Order: sequence, then C-alpha cells, then structure tokens
Amino acid sequence: MADLSTTYMGLELKNPLIVGSSELTNKPEKVKKLADAGAGAVVLKSLFEEQIMMEVDAQRVNNMYGSFSDVENYVAFYTRKHDLDEYLSLIKDSKASVDIPVIASINCISASEWVDFATRIQNAGADALELNMFIMPNDPSFDGADIEKIYFEVVDKIEQNIEIPVALKMGTYFSGLAKSFIELSKTSISAMVLFNRFYSPDVNLDKETIKAANVFSNPDDFSNSLRWIGILSDQVECDLSASTGAHDGHTILKNLLVGAKATHVVSTIYKNSNNQIKKMLEEIEKWMDEKGYQTLDDFRGKLSQSRIKQPMMYERAQFMKYYSNYRDIR
Ligand SMILES: Cc1cc2nc3c(=O)[nH]c(=O)nc-3n(C[C@H](O)[C@H](O)[C@H](O)COP(=O)(O)O)c2cc1C
Repeated sequence: MADLSTTYMGLELKNPLIVGSSELTNKPEKVKKLADAGAGAVVLKSLFEEQIMMEVDAQRVNNMYGSFSDVENYVAFYTRKHDLDEYLSLIKDSKASVDIPVIASINCISASEWVDFATRIQNAGADALELNMFIMPNDPSFDGADIEKIYFEVVDKIEQNIEIPVALKMGTYFSGLAKSFIELSKTSISAMVLFNRFYSPDVNLDKETIKAANVFSNPDDFSNSLRWIGILSDQVECDLSASTGAHDGHTILKNLLVGAKATHVVSTIYKNSNNQIKKMLEEIEKWMDEKGYQTLDDFRGKLSQSRIKQPMMYERAQFMKYYSNYRDIR
C-alpha cells in the first residue's frame, strides 16, 4: 500500500493534499469535516491586514475608509476587532478538534504593525502561518525593485515576531520571477505557494458593467503552477506547494513529479463536496501502486527542469514547436 506521507514547512502531513484558504475553512466544524474526509492539512480562511490594523490603529484605517460616518467607523471598528478574537478562536478550536496541521493565513500588502499580531496567531496554536501577499504593480511611481523590497521587509519583520514556519503565497506579477523567488527562498521562510488565484474582473455585456470573473478554477488551470514549480524546485531553498487548478489526484501527482511537496486544493471541493478529497487520494494511491512506487520521495522531482533531458520543455521554444505542429483545418 502506497505511503502518501510528506513533510511540508517542517510539518508532518499524512498526505500532500492541503485544503487551501477559503470559506471552506472558516469554522472549526468545517475544518473537522475536512480532516475526517482525509485532508493532509488545512489553511484557515485569511484575515486581512486591514482587519488587524483596525485594532492596532483604528484611526489610520478609518481614514482609509473616509466616506464612512463616525458611527459607521465605530461599527466597522467593533466588527473588525471582534473578527480578530473570532480568528484566534477559530485557530484554537480547529486545533482542538483535529490532529492534522492547521495553518493560519493573513492577506497582506505591507510590513506595517499588523505583523505584531502574528505572535497572537502563534500563541493561539497555529502550526504555521501562510502570508497571502499581493502587491498589484499598478502604481506607476513604483518600479519592480520597490515592490519586491516589500516582500523582504515583511519576511524580515515577521521573523522577529514568530517562530512557527511561514509560507508565502505568491502571485505571478514579477518581472524577474525566478530570481526574486530564489532570493526569497533564502530568507527564513519555509515554503512558497505557487500561485494564488486572485479576483479578476470581467464585463457584463448586457448591463455594460464590470463584474467578477469566475471565482473557481478549471481543471486545466494547473499548468502555470506546474511550470514554475518544475523550473524552481531544484533552485529554491524552501518547500513549494502548488495552488490553482488541482481538481483530481492526477494533478497532485504531476505537481509532485515536478518537485512540489504538497498541493493546495479549493475549487474542486466547492464543486464536488468533501468526498472529492478521498477520491483524489485514491487516484494518487492507485497510480503509485501501478507504478510500484512506495513513497512520494520515490518519484518527487523526477521531472523538474534540471532533471529532464529537454529543459526547454518548460520554456518558450516549446510553444513554437507546439504551434507550428498545428495544421489549419478550415
Ligand atoms: C471562494 C474562495 C475563497 C478564497 N479565499 C481565500 C482567502 O481568504 N485567502 C487566500 O489566500 N486564498 C483564498 N482563495 C484562493 C484559494 O486558497 C486557492 O489558492 C485558489 O482558489 C486556487 O486553488 P483552486 O484552483 O484549487 O481553487 C479563495 C478561493 C476561493 C474559490
């Protein structure tokens, strides 16, 4: 029988399927059901930097929401402060009800005072912290180096506050993605998650308004994560987990083959319920049994860029070949 256990961020996971941060993980009862369904670990829903800043410096955040009346500001402040206590309870109660790692999550965009709150997350019992960092490069006064510096500042500051392992959940807007990620991996972080799936705009043609595009990923959205994990897994000095487009066990296997330690899964659980976890794990086991692999380390990284004979398979030239093989069938 195949052994699916893995380590990730220094944590022992019984399998590489991590339920990613979302509303699937916003209640201890839901976390318990995910653990019962077989998840290897869970990442709790994210707390926003702004929520924490409400407690640290309500006035400053209230200024950010300048259109609120004083009363609304007070309500907003109370609600957000209440959110923090609830979040700490979510960590404590989830930890008390499951025996799999529970990873807390914060959405952040700066290295401001919110970082102090990480100590309370650690004290509440979180096994690790995932920082969902996204700085949209839309401000023309910031160049790439200015933006990338913020990631290092956050890591520096968080390191001074906590000892539990930290993962950075990344986006793709980096002009020198490989260099930046390799440099970040040399800091104190234990893992990087590639990649976050962000809110994207779409257009409603009937109403001529902007609307949110699909919230859920599709099964063929996995290849960007796969490409970058394949390119980076032998170059970074931290673990990598894939995120986006893992809808079946085969995609988790592909991520492992290119060097991932784990895969975050969200959309397919929304679409197919918690039962999908068992199905995905069975697919992994079946493939391993058929191939005669006993452990994930028997094949992990076998197809990373540095280990395959044609490293260009990960790069652009392959596209030229790919498209030139397509015939016009009109
Ligand atoms: C409804 C929903 C809510 C999400 N909320 C968060 C969140 O609070 N924090 C976060 O880091 N990612 C959040 N995500 C992103 C997921 O954790 C995950 O990275 C993304 O959905 C890609 O994985 P998937 O293709 O398996 O869905 C959310 C995704 C969905 C669909």
